[in-house]
Amino acid sequence: MNRIACIGAGYVGGPTMAVIADRCPQYTVTVVDVNADRIAAWNSDRLPIYEPGLEEVVFRRRNRNLFYSTDIPAAVRDADVIFVSVNTPTKTFGAGAGQAADLQYIEKTARSIIEYADSDKIIVEKSTLPVRTAQAMSRILHSNTRGLKFQIISNPEFLAEGTAIADLQNPDRVLIGGMDDTPAGQAAIETVIAIYANWVPRDRIITTNLWSSELTKLVSNALLAQRVSSVNSISALCEKTEADIDEVTRAAGRDSRIGAKFLKAGIGFGGSCFKKDILNLAYLCGYYGLPEVAEYWTQVVRINDYQARRFVGNMLSAMFNTVAGKRIAIFGFAFKADTGDTRESPAIAVCRQLLEERAELAIHDPRALGNARLDLESETGVIDYCEDPYAAAASAHAIAVLTDWMSFRELDYRRIFESMQKPAFIFDGRNLLDSAEMYEIGFNVYPIGRKALTHF
Ligand code: UDX
Ligand code: UDX
Repeated sequence: MNRIACIGAGYVGGPTMAVIADRCPQYTVTVVDVNADRIAAWNSDRLPIYEPGLEEVVFRRRNRNLFYSTDIPAAVRDADVIFVSVNTPTKTFGAGAGQAADLQYIEKTARSIIEYADSDKIIVEKSTLPVRTAQAMSRILHSNTRGLKFQIISNPEFLAEGTAIADLQNPDRVLIGGMDDTPAGQAAIETVIAIYANWVPRDRIITTNLWSSELTKLVSNALLAQRVSSVNSISALCEKTEADIDEVTRAAGRDSRIGAKFLKAGIGFGGSCFKKDILNLAYLCGYYGLPEVAEYWTQVVRINDYQARRFVGNMLSAMFNTVAGKRIAIFGFAFKADTGDTRESPAIAVCRQLLEERAELAIHDPRALGNARLDLESETGVIDYCEDPYAAAASAHAIAVLTDWMSFRELDYRRIFESMQKPAFIFDGRNLLDSAEMYEIGFNVYPIGRKALTHF
């Protein structure tokens, strides 16, 4: 068992397989995708996604034991273990539209596996899936007429973008869900454990039944997102009461039962997973007749939307209730620092609302300008895309910090202030900058969940 295939060369499949190839030189890893451009990019000097440390790992293993290909039939035929990491977006049509997961790519993948396979295989679900999807997968796979047997394992990915390689190399835990009630099921679990055991300490590899594993992925993301929404909801109260959200979370997070991580207030969470997974969790609860539970989790998404709206509302009221015709520098468009990914970035909602108010935008992001252009291409209004943050800020009325890029801390804000219209505003949507220092320079500073510092 030393030939691995992965179907889906995206943010999850790409980095995960690179690290497996790197840590398991005895395995041959082939990553396939229906998107030929994406595969060409994986085979080029410019990888299709940016992740710190990714290039190093890919360039070290590529064409040795790591291959990127569009030849899905060959990859399926040759592999003993097939990871599936195709996308599972929120359904946009039909029953469950806007909430349920769209499983058409998962089903297509299962059907292509039975079309090309000529021996028994272990199928590993990497994509985030509704609980009990493995059952449907199994039924489709076993509809093959050649008597082929498939073992299904759930092995959800917990990597976060921007730290994907470090998360994969040193995971808090690896979760492997399977059915251990048959010898073949037990052997499949052991096979997947053996892959990770090449570099992950055995006590960090957790095994559960299939359904627990599928559900744990949704629940982990829901719990993380819930922390962010809880803190953001309290940031609104802080702004009314002169409490300081960063002080509150620092003090509350010192309780070891609460913990200090994932308590940073901001303009809301983005990324491809949180919203999709919570809506999917809520949909499942509704489907199983638990409307109160569905409502509870849906509120996490509502607070997230509210936080972005509230941020724009604060901008408007600070800037004399009008931003029409005013240039606003947007610092950061990616959904978090150290990635060029803008999927579900709160910056999209903030920029759209500012454009509706007829503001003129000058967007700067160190990695995400290409994606920002695509996200806003159907919007009307003036949008300037700037490689240089100083050019973005020149003659602007305000700066809105929307992503926590550390490089924004190192800019010369005196120079920026001089180049701007007065009064000059900073709306720090990530509490990234030193408010007192910005105020000293002359800015009117509006952080999240903390008193604004104004000169009038
Ligand atoms: C995806 C899912 O969105 C997420 O729910 C899951 O947890 C992991 O997999 P990601 O890797 O970020 O996350 O998605 P994406 O970057 O869109 O990559 C998916 C890839 O699968 C794309 O390159 C797409 O071309 C490919 N794909 C999709 C196939 O090869 N075959 C298909 O039938 C559908
Ligand atoms: C998340 C999960 O962390 C990961 O385990 C899962 O596999 C995929 O989804 P990701 O979306 O890549 O990863 O990034 P994450 O670091 O979780 O950040 C998500 C969003 O929450 C970002 O927009 C970030 O800015 C925001 N966030 C995070 C906050 O606003 N405050 C915080 O304290 C932490």
